[in-house]
Amino acid sequence: MSEIGWVDNDALMADIGAAGGIDGSQWGVPWHDANARGSCSLLEVELLDGARRRLLIDAGWNRDYMRQRLAATGVDKLLASGEIETLFITHEHMDHLFGLQAVLELRPDIAICVPATFKPQGYEFIAGAEFPAAHAANQIAHTGKVFRLETAGVYQLMPGLAAVAFDLPIILGIEGEQSLYANVQGKGLVAITGCGHHTLDRIAAFAAESFEGGATLHRVYGGLHLAPFGRLAPAQEAAVRNMGKYGLKRIACNHCTGLPAVELMLALGYPVVKGSGADGSASDLYVGNGDSVAFD
Ligand SMILES: [Fe+2]
Ligand SMILES: [Fe+2]
Repeated sequence: MSEIGWVDNDALMADIGAAGGIDGSQWGVPWHDANARGSCSLLEVELLDGARRRLLIDAGWNRDYMRQRLAATGVDKLLASGEIETLFITHEHMDHLFGLQAVLELRPDIAICVPATFKPQGYEFIAGAEFPAAHAANQIAHTGKVFRLETAGVYQLMPGLAAVAFDLPIILGIEGEQSLYANVQGKGLVAITGCGHHTLDRIAAFAAESFEGGATLHRVYGGLHLAPFGRLAPAQEAAVRNMGKYGLKRIACNHCTGLPAVELMLALGYPVVKGSGADGSASDLYVGNGDSVAFD
């Protein structure tokens, strides 16, 4: 639905700098709403009996932008009619959480799933709160259930779909990110991430340790946090080269993966899924806003 986190890297870094740097709290950064966009994906699962179930992964950032994207993709109607059962919030970062009001306006009682490492501000925000210092607000109180996923547990959300929360310190003063594993019949394992702060290596290692047949990760969707601010550092370049060992059959990466990382993947011959480049996406080299990718 939307993969772009923000419009301009320099403007984002200036906002972070104004609040004391990347190790400060995101709740104290004077973010500029005009630069904010946000990450939000619709996951549709077809079960073996033909039933379809849907999750929304993350809630984006700028509320007006999110309202537009929800309407443009028809996800607004799915939310309003109750056809999306859960909002799965991968982590607390502003570009995944601050747009929550746009979702709750359509479905205030949607079940919300968060990693148990969420900080108090995250829960306050979900309950309905304003954080003026960060230009962030949720004016719609959430009325549904909140499920907290404890670190390293495996939670089966539905047949063939598991959620796992990872504990790790993350920039801007937050902790922990959760992601999903889908076991697609006849195809194998698909990892689905938000930002992927916990790294593809950790995602793959957990699958190998925890899932039958998990030694091979076949496909991946979402952010891989390699060049989120527009520059591929040497360690991240090495990480891209290291990805080759997994032999992934399809890489549908976007969001904070970053264009230089995607370009290197393509140069290395990795099977990156391209997109349309439409609806505000920064490039057509990867799956972007409004694009769909199937893993069947
Ligand atoms: Fe992000
Ligand atoms: Fe993030």
